[in-house]
This record gives sequence, C-alpha cells and structure tokens, in this order.
Amino acid sequence: MQLSFITGRLTTPGAGTALFLSEDETDLTGRPELAAFQAAVAPLLTTGQFKAKKGEALPLQFGRGWLFLVGLGKPDKITAETWLTSAARAAQMAQDRQAAELEIILPPSDDPALTLKLQVMGSLLAQYRPQEYKSQPDPEPTLTRLIFRAEKLEKGEELLEQGRLMAEGVLLARRLGDRPANLLYPETFALEAAALAKPLGLSVDIFEEKELARERLNLILAVGGGSARPPRLVRVTYPGGPAGQKPVVLVGKGITFDSGGVSLKPSGSLEGMKTDMAGAAAVLAVTLAAARLKLPLNLTAIMPLAENMPDGAGCRVGDVYATRSGQTVEITNTDAEGRLILAEALTLAGELQPAAIIDVATLTGACAVALGERCAGLFCDQPDLALGLTTAAGQMGENVWGLPLLEDYEDLLKSEIADLVNAPGVPRGGAINAALFLRKFVAEGTPWAHLDIAGPGRAAKARPGVTVGATGFGVRTSLHYLAERSRG
Ligand code: BES
Ligand code: MN
Ligand code: ZN
Repeated sequence: MQLSFITGRLTTPGAGTALFLSEDETDLTGRPELAAFQAAVAPLLTTGQFKAKKGEALPLQFGRGWLFLVGLGKPDKITAETWLTSAARAAQMAQDRQAAELEIILPPSDDPALTLKLQVMGSLLAQYRPQEYKSQPDPEPTLTRLIFRAEKLEKGEELLEQGRLMAEGVLLARRLGDRPANLLYPETFALEAAALAKPLGLSVDIFEEKELARERLNLILAVGGGSARPPRLVRVTYPGGPAGQKPVVLVGKGITFDSGGVSLKPSGSLEGMKTDMAGAAAVLAVTLAAARLKLPLNLTAIMPLAENMPDGAGCRVGDVYATRSGQTVEITNTDAEGRLILAEALTLAGELQPAAIIDVATLTGACAVALGERCAGLFCDQPDLALGLTTAAGQMGENVWGLPLLEDYEDLLKSEIADLVNAPGVPRGGAINAALFLRKFVAEGTPWAHLDIAGPGRAAKARPGVTVGATGFGVRTSLHYLAERSRG
C-alpha cells in the first residue's frame, strides 16, 4: 500500500474520496474545507438521507469517481475506536467498489495528530485478509494508494509513518496468531522471530532445550514436555536508549497450541487455542516496531514458547518442579500452563534490573468471562505504570480494565507439599488467582503490569477493521505506551 500525506484544500476530487461527518452536522457550512462537496452532500443531510450515525456508510457516485460518506455519530461520543473503525469502513467501501485509490479528508478533532495516526491504522488494518492458506486466494485488492489530506497539520509524513509501522505491528501479530499450530510451533516461532529481528540489528537469543535445562527454566520444559515439538525461549533486545539505562522488559505468553495437557480441554474449548501465543506475538511485534520507529529506550522482549499437549513424557497433575526463582510449584492443573512458562520468563526478566516489566498473555478464560471479547484485564499496583497503560489504551482504541491483585486470595496458592500450586482448587476469581501466581515471580519493587488478553486476543465475529481470528490486541497499547514513555 502506497501512503501519502498532503496539506491544503481538495479542489478536484480523484477516484475515491472519504468524508467523515458527525451527527450534529446538518449541512456543510461549518466545514469550508469541504466546499467542493457542498452541493452534493448538503441535500442528503437536510433530507436526512444520511444521518451520520456511527458506522453509517454511504457510497455516492461523484464526478468520475466515488464519494464515501462515513458517519461518526454524536460528536461527544467520538473515541479512538471511532477514528479507527470509520477509516476502516471508508477503506472497505473503496475496496468493495474496486477503487484503486482513496483520499481520506482528515475530520476535525481535538487531537489531529492522533486522529491521523488512528485513521492510517484503521484503513491499513482493514486490508488484512488471511489468504495464505487458500489454494485459490481472492484476487489482490485493487486499493493500492491511500492519501491523507489535512488542511493544515505539522509533521503529517512522520505521523503517517508512525501509524503505518504500528499497523504493521498489529498485522504481524495477527498473521502469527492466525497461523495454524502445525506450522507455527516453538521452533518455527523462534526462527521467524530471529529472521524478523536480525535485519533490524536487534540481538536475538534462542534457548533450546539444553539451555532451558542449564538455565533451570524448568517449568517451560515441564509444559513443553508433552509435545513432539520441543519448547524454546526467545529473547530479543533492542538497545535504543543510552547504555546503562534500565530496560523495559516485555514478556509474552507463547503457547503455540493449548490442548490443556492431561487436564485436557473439552472439544469446544480447543477452538482458537492456536492463538494462545498472542501475547508472545504482540511483544515481538512491539519490539520490532519500536526498533523501526527508533524509539529512544532500551527494550527487551522475552517469549517463552511451548506446545501444551497430553503425553507420557509430559507433566502430570501432582508433579512438583523447582523453578529458576528457587520456589517450588505443584502442578495441580496442566491447563493452567501459561502462568508456568511466564513464571520462568518473569524471573529472567527480573534479572535484567528492569525499569518495568509488562506481560501480555491469553491467560484465563475467567478474564474473558468477566470482561468479554473487547476488553483486557489490567493488573498493576504501580500507579504510574497503570495510568500510563490505561491512557495509552484509551488513545489507541483498545479497552483495558483494572482488576485487583487481592492479597486476600494469596492463601489459595499454597500447596500442601510444595511452595505454590499453579491452580487453586476454587473455581472463582480465576483471573486474579493467575495474576497473583505471576506476582510470586516478580521481584518486590519492580513496576509490573499484567495484561490478560484471553478475551480480546481473538475475535469470534468480524467487525470493521477486524477479521475473525487473531486481533493483534495489545500491540497498539504497549507500543504507544513505550513511545510516550520514551518521549519523557
Ligand atoms: N489459554 C487458556 C486461557 C484462555 C481461555 C484463553 C479461553 C483464551 C480463551 C489458559 O491456558 C487456560 O486454560 N486457563 C485455564 C486456567 C484454569 C485451569 C485454572 C482456564 O481459564 O480455564
Ligand atoms: Mn490452558
Ligand atoms: Zn493457555
């Protein structure tokens, strides 16, 4: 996709133009920059043929091309998500009409720079179609040129590039999340991560079984032990900040398929479990994008990777393992495997003397039950980090909601024979219990945030800009948080 940014007023519309209107605009008199469209559009507004309700979309033939009207809804209800989905709708309409190019007229907003970035992302994310596994893929999309126009805006090109790189990060996370588990398993994930990171000058360490054992990352070996495809741990380092500056460490759950192990999942719950590596995909994508954006910070991504399968060589219920942290863990449920591999990765993360640790994981069905498909659980007791992530999520159109690291439930993690159980025997508070377990592996005083993306990591239904399957959730929030943080 070719992207360009131009300033100034549009006088002669091209093959496709998108206009965004809110519900309070009953004519176009308040929008002098749209004078060229006044005659065509005003009557539609006055007669109520186009009400500019949120999500409303109307394609019109205009001159020799197309005019695409997109509704934004009530102006006081416009959010980041509105900018993303409205641009996605515009791009979709243009594509449906086989337009080769689309010019997006940037709508007025409180924060035009952010709006531009979001609209760039929305229109690019709408292009995602997992076609690589079709013997007869759909024809290549006709839409190959996107033009963004603002009457006046500083650094438009730079913002465009930022939006593009962020969208590419989301698309990478989606591609990996949608890749079938017979193709994407720990070894191939690790190789892919290396192939993507090395050309950017990042250093990549891959721990194979021997290194996992030598480094006492025993729970990763325990979880991966039931699979014919051995586990890995990948560490990607981006030294974008001053030498000696403490790094931010991202940790992502990389279960390439979660069958539950001997605590086998029922058939219905296996669907989508190839996406149980969405956290690892997100932190990889964020790190690559941070490098491409040349963010001035030191960043390390740690991705523990394993396939959770039932097998004679795999771990059992009741097994006890010593961890790198020194704590021992009794496995009371092999389906609570994410927290096991994350425990070891969090220990490694802590050894880097990090300024902060952020983990991203499709961790618990309980979190998906509590918050649904469009919202991640955020566990964080460090106010600056929690606020930073919440703000970033809001600006990027991703929902996160704070859940408590309740001291009261800590006792549930006690084991009769080891230090900890991985899964308490109570069926309630599952998302909190998992987060409390993770916290046992985070050094006191290290700012740490845990994002449980079990709900929003996959979409069961398509919506503007999102296809069924992996969503790439968490990439925009984490990357935007890091960008803001590194700006100081
Ligand atoms: N990968 C699952 C969590 C999950 C569920 C992600 C649904 C996406 C959609 C995780 O490994 C898991 O199985 N968790 C168990 C924990 C339980 C055994 C304590 C769960 O949530 O049921
Ligand atoms: Mn599981
Ligand atoms: Zn899992």
